[in-house]
Amino acid sequence: MNRLDGKVALISGAARGIGAETARLMIEAGARVAIGDVLDEHGRETVRGLGGDTLYHHLDVTREDDWREAVAATAARFGGLDILVNNAGLFLGKGIEEASLDEWHHLAGVNLTGVFLGTKLALPALRERGANSAHGSAIVNLASVAGLVGSQLDPLYSMTKGGVTLFTKSAALEFARKGYRIRVNSIHPGVIQTDMGAQTFAARARNLGSNDVDAAREAALRTHPIGRLGVPTDIAKGIVFLASDDAGFMTGAGLVVDGGLTAQ
Ligand code: NAI
Repeated sequence: MNRLDGKVALISGAARGIGAETARLMIEAGARVAIGDVLDEHGRETVRGLGGDTLYHHLDVTREDDWREAVAATAARFGGLDILVNNAGLFLGKGIEEASLDEWHHLAGVNLTGVFLGTKLALPALRERGANSAHGSAIVNLASVAGLVGSQLDPLYSMTKGGVTLFTKSAALEFARKGYRIRVNSIHPGVIQTDMGAQTFAARARNLGSNDVDAAREAALRTHPIGRLGVPTDIAKGIVFLASDDAGFMTGAGLVVDGGLTAQ
């Protein structure tokens, strides 16, 4: 199950967090992996830790040229591209009254424009490999529970992730209609303990009118019926599944991995 032997993956925002763990599990599953990020030093360190035949390439997902170069470098090193994970993302943690227009543009640039550009610029390479593989190529987009239900903490983040949810479905339909053999699915994590997870605790503490991040973390935990917060590997396992041929009949779908948060 969930093998990626012979596959090549490019993961954005994978210097740390969910992206870095996804790289690790994909390598374990037999894939060769390129990671891109704006945190170059951190990204190179992550690649050294991953070992194997792994590539780091600078990639600001808001820049077309960066995508072009990252995709070309991946294909040149590994001979093609089968899997794109649009993982890079930002969280703002401010209400509508507090957020500025510049902050919105920055957030939307990464969370929305980044997903559009990645999909568009990786498309030719994904098409090429998809045409000759059993279940086609795969794109996995990191949405969120905040792309399914409203967010108590960050309405602007929720707007971007709602966009990713429906862009995923629309891209799946467009590629299927055009006969491109590329499956496109999204994953919807609950609160995951990463740097971004910590940012959500700080925002929750502010909402509660305190600086008590531990209390905010406890409050976040109580929203997860399963009784714990998520860890990166919970999500990475779902991403590996969606990228693998075991998800060969899935496209335009959203995999919810949230400890029951949105079941309520
Ligand atoms: P993280 O903050 O640990 O990692 C995000 C990565 O994206 C960082 O390495 C960062 O440098 C990179 N990044 C930021 N701007 C970039 C840009 N312009 N170009 C390239 N890379 C850029 O966050 P985490 O938790 O690993 O999040 C990964 C994805 O999962 C994000 O899309 C996030 O919205 C989503 N997610 C996370 C949840 C959580 O609770 N941690 C919950 C739901 C979704």
